[in-house]
Amino acid sequence: MKIAVVGTGYVGLVTGTCLTEIGHNVTCIDIDQNKVNKMREGISPIYEPGLDELMKKNIQEKRLFFTTDHNEGFEGADVIYIAVGTPEKKDGSANLSFVEQVAKDIATHVKKDVIVVTKSTVPVGTNDWIKGVIQKNLVNNVKVDIVSNPEFLREGAAIYDSFNGDRIVVGTDNEAAANIIEEINKPFGIPVFKTDIRSAEMIKYAANAFLATKISFINEISNICEKVGANVEEVANGMGQDNRIGSQFLNAGIGYGGSCFPKDTKALIQIAGNVNYEFELLKGVVRVNQKQQEMLLNKLEERFDSLEGKKIAILGLAFKPNTDDMREAASIVITKHLIEKGANVVAFDPVAMENAKKILDSKINFASNTIEAIKDSDAVLILTEWNEFKDLNICTFEEYMKQPVIFDGRNCFDLVEVKKHRVEYHSIGRPPLI
Ligand code: UGA
Repeated sequence: MKIAVVGTGYVGLVTGTCLTEIGHNVTCIDIDQNKVNKMREGISPIYEPGLDELMKKNIQEKRLFFTTDHNEGFEGADVIYIAVGTPEKKDGSANLSFVEQVAKDIATHVKKDVIVVTKSTVPVGTNDWIKGVIQKNLVNNVKVDIVSNPEFLREGAAIYDSFNGDRIVVGTDNEAAANIIEEINKPFGIPVFKTDIRSAEMIKYAANAFLATKISFINEISNICEKVGANVEEVANGMGQDNRIGSQFLNAGIGYGGSCFPKDTKALIQIAGNVNYEFELLKGVVRVNQKQQEMLLNKLEERFDSLEGKKIAILGLAFKPNTDDMREAASIVITKHLIEKGANVVAFDPVAMENAKKILDSKINFASNTIEAIKDSDAVLILTEWNEFKDLNICTFEEYMKQPVIFDGRNCFDLVEVKKHRVEYHSIGRPPLI
């Protein structure tokens, strides 16, 4: 199969590269010439474990190509994947202007029958609209079928997820097109769930909204646990052993971030609102998440009379480990607040520092390693559960901090272990150790 992928963000680049790994011939199209030049050398513009290696291998084996030229990219393509961004607009709805442009480009350039597969997360009904845009602008007399094929990859584990996903959702009103997409994906060995277009579009939003709900739910439970003297980890463990609930996504913390959950939850509220339905539960999920981002700060402020002039060390800035992505990271809200309160903030993240420097307050100081960050600090806030932090010996805090006061927003340490040390330890939904 000859495949073209438009858009080389997380979704497009990972999808394109993994499709070459299972034997297809893929050309990835992006408008950014610098980015394309780098990708041609096998250098990924994003930090994603294992991606560079896979790109290099398939470029060498002449299956993976990159171009800025749509004409060249679409030449002879049997299938075109749309994988451009759908950023959040001010009102919470998805911005579809990039998708629209791709639809117009397809209409202008395709010279043979083609299946257009939408990977981008788009509101319900968008694929029908895409079909309309293509039909309206079609230059040549060719047949274009549309398939909704949402992705469920996690950043930081995207390559693993591509080969080990739970299901591949294929939504279309054309059985022949569904069979071709199923055939393309067969070597992944993942079950294919075939459905209609609108249900496929909804599955993506509903899945992300449900996962976000699980997180907000356990975060609320954690807040109650703190007040009644229970331990949220024990609670999550006991709940998760019920197969109907499941043990995943029950880690309490400082709220969900990233480019997907915050955007997709708000978009689904909008989608419902557009048909005069108030998604009350999901509105609560979003509110709880905003509140949760501030919980750790509240504890810090309760502990210190004033943060003015205090050295506060931040360990972890990315929205989660194994990524350099800072989008909607809780660290943005938390560091902003600390600066406003006059704290001297020193931050360190193993991978996300470059991206963090671009968006965080200029008053924040960046350390080049953990020790430099925590040295002589009055308190440390752990915001991302990188292994590098989880593996720290608690003695390190005792040794280097001015006073070892730890606020762990990700429950990185075992309470039994912490108890052996002379540190003050506040975590999420677990009794404080003072
Ligand atoms: C999420 C979904 O997990 C993917 O299935 C989906 O494809 C993707 O969005 C998307 O729509 O593109 P991702 O945003 O990469 O993936 O990251 P997750 O691993 O889901 O984590 C999201 C946020 O939730 C992080 O901030 C993480 O720290 C937080 N989280 C996750 C918790 O606070 N507790 C948990 O138990 C799990």
